[in-house]
Order: sequence, then C-alpha cells, then structure tokens
Amino acid sequence: MNIRIGLGFDVHQLVAGRKLFLCGVEIAHPLGLLGHSDADVALHAVIDAILGAVGAGDIGQWFPDNDAAYKDADSKVLLQTVMQSEALQNCQVGNLDLVIIAQQPKILPWVPVMKKSLANLLKCEESQISIKGKTTEKLGYTGRGEGIAAQAVILLQKS
Ligand code: CDP
Ligand code: ZN
Repeated sequence: MNIRIGLGFDVHQLVAGRKLFLCGVEIAHPLGLLGHSDADVALHAVIDAILGAVGAGDIGQWFPDNDAAYKDADSKVLLQTVMQSEALQNCQVGNLDLVIIAQQPKILPWVPVMKKSLANLLKCEESQISIKGKTTEKLGYTGRGEGIAAQAVILLQKS
C-alpha cells in the first residue's frame, strides 16, 4: 500500500453581489467570494491537497484563471475532473481534514451538509472527512472579514 499525503491552502476575497459557496454548498450569507470560478475556497484547498498528494501540480496549472473556459466554473466539476483523471488512478481517500478560516459565517451549522457534499465528490464515507471552522479572533484579513481562507490535509491510498 502506497500512502500519499497532500497539503492545500487557498484564500478568496469576500465581496457583495456574489453567492457564497463552500465545499460545494451554497451558504446563506450577505457576501460571497470573488474569483474567476465560483471561488469555492474550501474545494480549491481540497483540490490542491489532492494534487499535492500525487505530485500533479496545482489548481492553477490544471484550470488557468485566465482561461475563459473556467469563468464562473463550478468548483465541484473541477474536483470531479481531478478525481477522474489519470493522475488519480487507483487512488482512494484515506481521510481529509479541512479548516475553513472565517470570522463569519459560522461554519459549524453547515458541517453535516458540507461533509455529505465532499463525501459524494471524493467517493468516500462522511466518517473519513473532518471540517472545522475557525476565526482569527478578528485579526488580519480573515478577522476583518475581507476574505475567507482554507487549509486542507488529505491522505490518499494508492493500490
Ligand atoms: O475558541 P477558539 O479561538 O479556538 O476558536 P474560534 O475561532 O473562536 O471558534 C470557536 C468555535 O466556533 C470553533 O471551534 C468552531 O466550532 C466554531 N466556528 C465556526 O463554526 N465557524 C467559524 N467561521 C469560526 C468558528
Ligand atoms: Zn481558489
């Protein structure tokens, strides 16, 4: 059994006039994340963790943000594209641990639906997924509510 670990990180700016998507779930919130795609910062961190685990580059190399094809792209589709790619052949998720760093909104109430969404995308059980919300105690760009950051660690088992 070949065990591979990957680390992902991402940040997007919070602005008015955009929907907020986290883990592929639309979150009720007055602000949304700005980006070329739907700016799902949590899924982007997960994608980069997966690509890191298999040594296959990063999300920007796979889906360039200057490519019109990915304008307003659904990040669920980007993750599915990676999961179904040659690079992920014979790989199964061991576990995923995800931290969403946001002063607001409160992540905890959304964790069950987010886990369901990720388990579906990663073809694993919800018990293999951990999602945690964290503030930065009003410090820095996340603390001022200027953006949301996400960190992901994933273990992949390659048979
Ligand atoms: O208490 P501590 O400083 O460790 O954590 P915090 O950032 O103040 O967050 C307290 C708790 O609120 C966390 O343990 C999460 O359960 C929850 N939380 C959340 O659901 N969504 C956030 N955006 C931030 C925190
Ligand atoms: Zn991103």
